[in-house]
Amino acid sequence: MDPRVLLEEEPTPEDFRAAMSIIHVGETIKITDADRHGAADALLLENVPLTGASIVDLGASDGSTSVELIAKLPDFESYVIADLYLTLRSVQVGRHVLFFDADDNCVLVAGRRLLAWPTLSRTVRLVVAPLIARARRRPSRDVLLLGPEARRLTRTDPRVSTRVHDVFQPWGAPAPDVIKVANLLRRLYFSDADILRALRALLASLDEGGHLLILDNPRLADITLRAGLYRREGGRFRPVAETPDAPEIADLFRSPELALA
Ligand SMILES: C[S@@+](CC[C@H](N)C(=O)[O-])C[C@H]1O[C@@H](n2cnc3c(N)ncnc32)[C@H](O)[C@@H]1O
Repeated sequence: MDPRVLLEEEPTPEDFRAAMSIIHVGETIKITDADRHGAADALLLENVPLTGASIVDLGASDGSTSVELIAKLPDFESYVIADLYLTLRSVQVGRHVLFFDADDNCVLVAGRRLLAWPTLSRTVRLVVAPLIARARRRPSRDVLLLGPEARRLTRTDPRVSTRVHDVFQPWGAPAPDVIKVANLLRRLYFSDADILRALRALLASLDEGGHLLILDNPRLADITLRAGLYRREGGRFRPVAETPDAPEIADLFRSPELALA
């Protein structure tokens, strides 16, 4: 897989997703895929009146799964494809392309025979340090980490937009009717204390009656999707519906720490 496909004008959605799946940013990976949220989206479509709804998809990666949900929605008001890492900077150095995040960390070095993740290893950082030093003296180009189908939607449908947002921060006004968070609040990325902190921010981001859809696609032999739909009621999350397997963090929704004063 050559991540330099991210720089192409018209990549295929499959190539773009494959390139995204090797990008490590912050604590997480930008991995995503098509056709993996169906039963979770169904929980939303079956339990929440979505006509006129404002929806936020947080940690949406390249927006592939947002495009799929949007295609199933009735006449919604707005859909925001949100992620903390929506752009990277790329710098060409000889045959290599280096990708930098918003904090100026080099997160990936890609060449014809080289793939290196300097933020993941001190040794790798040392090996590619001369390339990084050269890159810092060169002009850079912004790379939008949104797949071709999601890009097309943001151009053609005025209800669909993007926003850089951190799941640990409250969304602010106006409160969305629905927030979907898929494959982000996972125990493989964050501690329980941090996940609870994010859930408190999400609770504060919703008005009473607002909904949160949480899901994960575990790599388990017999489970491909676990999802839960929760409604804010009385300053707490109340479960509305779950798939046969509850989401990985379902137990945290019962925590007494998850309530607004
Ligand atoms: C594993 S991907 C999930 C993509 C998509 N939701 C799915 O299920 O296919 C996790 C995404 O969360 C984003 N992310 C990581 N930390 C974040 C944060 N603090 N706030 C918002 N998004 C974050 C990453 O950039 C990445 O796109």
